[in-house]
Amino acid sequence: MNLKQLNDLSCHRVDSYLKNSLTEYSPADALHEAMLYSLFNGGKRVRPMLVYATAQIFGLITPLTDACAAAIEAIHAYSLVHDDLPAMDDDNLRRGKPTCHIQFDEATAILAGDALQTFAFEMLSNTALEQATSQLQLIQTLSKASGRNGMVTGQMIDLASVNQNIDRKTLETMHLHKTGALIRASIQMGAISAHCNDHDAFKALDDYALAIGLAFQVQDDILDITSDTQTLGKQQFSDADANKPTYPKLIGLEASKKLVIDLHQQANEKIQLFGEKGQPLVELANYIIHRNH
Ligand code: IPE
Ligand code: IPE
Ligand code: MG
Ligand code: MG
Ligand code: MG
Repeated sequence: MNLKQLNDLSCHRVDSYLKNSLTEYSPADALHEAMLYSLFNGGKRVRPMLVYATAQIFGLITPLTDACAAAIEAIHAYSLVHDDLPAMDDDNLRRGKPTCHIQFDEATAILAGDALQTFAFEMLSNTALEQATSQLQLIQTLSKASGRNGMVTGQMIDLASVNQNIDRKTLETMHLHKTGALIRASIQMGAISAHCNDHDAFKALDDYALAIGLAFQVQDDILDITSDTQTLGKQQFSDADANKPTYPKLIGLEASKKLVIDLHQQANEKIQLFGEKGQPLVELANYIIHRNH
């Protein structure tokens, strides 16, 4: 499977699963619309692609895999809606469109984020999937990666570090939490959904995920200063203007680019174990480090 085929398969499957799961009547139209707006406004679907690329290594893409991809994308969408709020990064542009709180209002954006978060666990705990043990494991993996052991802690360090000088270790901890944790969970969940019980395979995938998760956020920091607003679909210099701690700011642009290349190489070394079946993850890593938005 090449990157285009992986992208087509992932977008088709995750979009259908999300749409089918969100069709129920909601008595609060604005909430429903804000959720749809945040889920279907042009995200790259990197995390679902990681879920499917991992599951296909074990030859098994099932509705449980779809639920994982949809759940992680819902958590990701919620994290961005809240990330853009005035009390957080205060951004008005996301994916080339007004951010959720600009398009709707602040209260609706907060509530849409809340509802997207619980929606993720609603999908993962669906009894129709009939795989209770795996589902429980998936719920634990995603809840840990989203909350105080993962993304929320990263966001807390990020916001507490504005206008501060933090050291490289703290910056790495921040990035591994705010972005790395959900990237890592995507791969773990892909493997769990395909019933991977090979410890060595799981460890190799997790090492790949750690490297590529950090590389993803370092590249995001680089793009903040090297890509333009139109290409990014979000404001260029958002981090720089807010005096956020970033890799380019702490170690310089060239050293940041070199770090991305080193992490990319580390990730690819881990995936060699899977031979041809690992190729989609290799291509995805290439995409993550070479993307311009
Ligand atoms: C943006 O993530 C936020 C970060 C974690 C850096 P993506 O770059 O995956 O955002 P979308 O979903 O494609 O817009
Ligand atoms: C966001 O990091 C990470 C999460 C939303 C968890 P950023 O604040 O750097 O993401 P962008 O640049 O706004 O997409
Ligand atoms: Mg942020
Ligand atoms: Mg932001
Ligand atoms: Mg950023």
